[in-house]
Amino acid sequence: MEIFAHRGASAAFPENTLLAFEQAIVQGADGIELDVQYHPDGELIVLHDSHLDITTNGQGAYDELGLTELARLDAGNQQKIPTLAQALAQINGRCAVNIELKDAGVAPGRLAAITGLLKQQLEQAIVKENYTWSHFIISSFNHHLLAAVKQKYPKIKTAALIASCPLTYSEFTRALDVCQLNVSIDCLNAALVNDAHDRGLTVGVYTVDRQQDIRRCYALGVDVIFSNAPDKSRDYLKTI
Ligand code: G3P
Ligand code: CA
Repeated sequence: MEIFAHRGASAAFPENTLLAFEQAIVQGADGIELDVQYHPDGELIVLHDSHLDITTNGQGAYDELGLTELARLDAGNQQKIPTLAQALAQINGRCAVNIELKDAGVAPGRLAAITGLLKQQLEQAIVKENYTWSHFIISSFNHHLLAAVKQKYPKIKTAALIASCPLTYSEFTRALDVCQLNVSIDCLNAALVNDAHDRGLTVGVYTVDRQQDIRRCYALGVDVIFSNAPDKSRDYLKTI
């Protein structure tokens, strides 16, 4: 079972910052999960919430500020809000990267803007840094956006995020052509994991920090857990 650092090593360092990503690598994470928002100035930034107050010293919606103003904010421990390009440069292919697209929009123009920027940045990272395509997996709760990513970029791996418990998984996963389901620990069950595996899908589970949850994921054959404390989760996993 692989361990991905959820928002970086976010239990001990400010989430979704270059520091948290670096420390995730130090802690031996197999991959890093990060959250990406589309900024209308034409940039992808790494930020979980649409409001700045939650994780920075800024206020209001992030897209009410320009990129220069955003770059001045403190995201904790003197860290900045990174752009996706900065995050990828920092990680530099040293582990896998699960890029979660946070955008909920479905307007064709917006989907095209996001998928175009994403394609450009991943291609750039592969040319300039130590990545191959297999390093990346794109996830989203917005399945319209996932479909648009896949249409633009058939070779990229995608994962459908689900936070509720659908009765059946078959039709939507086939239509989306995802290779993984990323599910909340709250709707994890054996039938879901077995059904996904029967369809050739891997299963990721978020957010898994408690020992009983790690044990349960392992027993059910989960492929990836997203943990805020990859070091502690790994230590515990070794004892099972
Ligand atoms: O990608 C898994 C998980 O991060 C989804 O929920 O709210 O932590 O982004 P959230
Ligand atoms: Ca996330």
